[in-house]
Parts: sequence; structure tokens; C-alpha cells
Amino acid sequence: MAEFKLPKNSQVTIGKSWPRPEGASNVRAFKIYRYDPDTGQNPRIDTYFVDMDSCGPMVLDALIKIKNEIDPTLTFRRSCREGICGSCAMNIDGINRLACIWGMDEIKGDVKIYPLPHMPVVKDLVTDLTHFYAQHASIMPWLETKTNEPAGEWKQSIEDRRKLDGLYECVMCACCSTSCPSYWWNGDRYLGPAALLHAYRWIIDSRDEATGERLDELEDPFKLYRCHTIMNCAQTCPKGLNPAKAIASIKQLMVERRL
Ligand code: SF4
Ligand code: SF4
Ligand code: FES
Repeated sequence: MAEFKLPKNSQVTIGKSWPRPEGASNVRAFKIYRYDPDTGQNPRIDTYFVDMDSCGPMVLDALIKIKNEIDPTLTFRRSCREGICGSCAMNIDGINRLACIWGMDEIKGDVKIYPLPHMPVVKDLVTDLTHFYAQHASIMPWLETKTNEPAGEWKQSIEDRRKLDGLYECVMCACCSTSCPSYWWNGDRYLGPAALLHAYRWIIDSRDEATGERLDELEDPFKLYRCHTIMNCAQTCPKGLNPAKAIASIKQLMVERRL
């Protein structure tokens, strides 16, 4: 994992309150976590006021407006603006969400925006996902085959294809893993809900020929068994997926192969 200059203590201070937009009657306050490791300063919460009459409906619309019109130093990730790339994941109003598909009408009062919890912060709302991606790579997120390649394509029945529904839609946003208490405390060794959901997606793929090896890899006191079915992952997933169910299914397969 990359090295970061962390603040001397973790105390978050009250930061700058930016001016209200002149002449606006429909204004909302945004309290946003700011942290720049190069300054050596502690993280702070800055307050911005946005004219909602000239702003789109999603939290990401407000962040882009703040960056474009108020404070160009505000840093966050985004790309697709339609819940597909997973890059705008952040903690909004206390819950991990994708900013581009979370409407501000869902939030009461001030809009509070923090980076994903328990992750190293690169700057402001940008967290370091190096370890998260390495864990994903470790479960071999690709088709493993041993038999000769077919002349055309690896075929799959409609019924077997349906088994991937609720799994393949994951956009790797990390909302689930960073909401999981087991991942907070043991994220160095516990794979976490996102990587395990992907592991299950390949374990049950009828075309894959490495099921035994995949299960062997997960047979470890930390990689899989740190899930205690707390269910934060399923509650927070912005794509409506259920990583806890996938994890339970892997555990069930582990039991069955011992019988
Ligand atoms: S169900 Fe498992 S993976 Fe999901 S939040 Fe709870 S401990 Fe984490
Ligand atoms: S399972 Fe849901 S919350 Fe977790 S990484 Fe995938 S899309 Fe994001
Ligand atoms: S910008 Fe791509 S998911 Fe939000």
C-alpha cells in the first residue's frame, strides 16, 4: 500500500465557512471533509453554501458545482455519473453511497460528506483503494479453464447464466467493504464482502474449472471466516446486491465438500 503522511493526530477540526451565494433564496449547506497531506494540517470540515435553484438533483451535481464555482481545490473521484464506474463512492449523511445516484432530496438538513470510512485518505474525498483492488485480484476474477478451448465460445445454459445475477452487477465501489466492521479491524487479512462476492461469482460459474482451487484458497481463518453476518454490506450496497448472502453460500460449499 502507498505511504501517506497522516495527520499528527486524527482530530478533525472546524474549517472554513465559505460565503453564501448572493441573492439566492434556496440555499443548502454542505459540510465536507477536507484533508491535504502536503500541508501537515489536521483534517477539517469546510462548509459550502449552494444555490439549489441552479444545481442538479444529485450529491455529485453539488460537488461538481462547488468545485467549478466555489473551491477548485476540492478533490473527489467521479467518471460515469450514472452508477456504473463505482468511482464516486463516499460517505454521505452517514452511509456509504454513490454520489452520482444519491438524490439530495433523500437527505434532511445539512449534507455531510466524508470519504469512505477506515481507509487511508489520499486527499479530501479520495481514498487509497490499492489494497482493496489487490484483494480483488487475489481471488482470480477471471475464467480459469483446463480443458482445450472450444472452437467457438465457452457455452453456458440460460439456467446457469442466471446464477450470476445479483453478482456480476458489482461495480467495485467499495461501499460494502468499507462499511463492514470485520473489514475495518482485519482488512489486512479478511478479504471483505466485495472480494468475496466476486470470489463466489467465479466459484459458481458453470464454465469455470478451478472451483476446488478457489475454495482451497479461501479455506483460511481470516480470508473468509471473519464475516460475522452483521449485514452492513447488504444494507449499504448502492446496486442492491447482497455480499453477505454470497459469503454464506461460500461457507455452505465449504461444509458440503467436507461431507
Ligand atoms: S455480513 Fe459479513 S461481510 Fe457483510 S458487513 Fe457483515 S461481517 Fe462484513
Ligand atoms: S457489492 Fe455493492 S457495495 Fe460492494 S463493491 Fe459491489 S457494488 Fe459496491
Ligand atoms: S460517477 Fe460513476 S458511479 Fe458515480
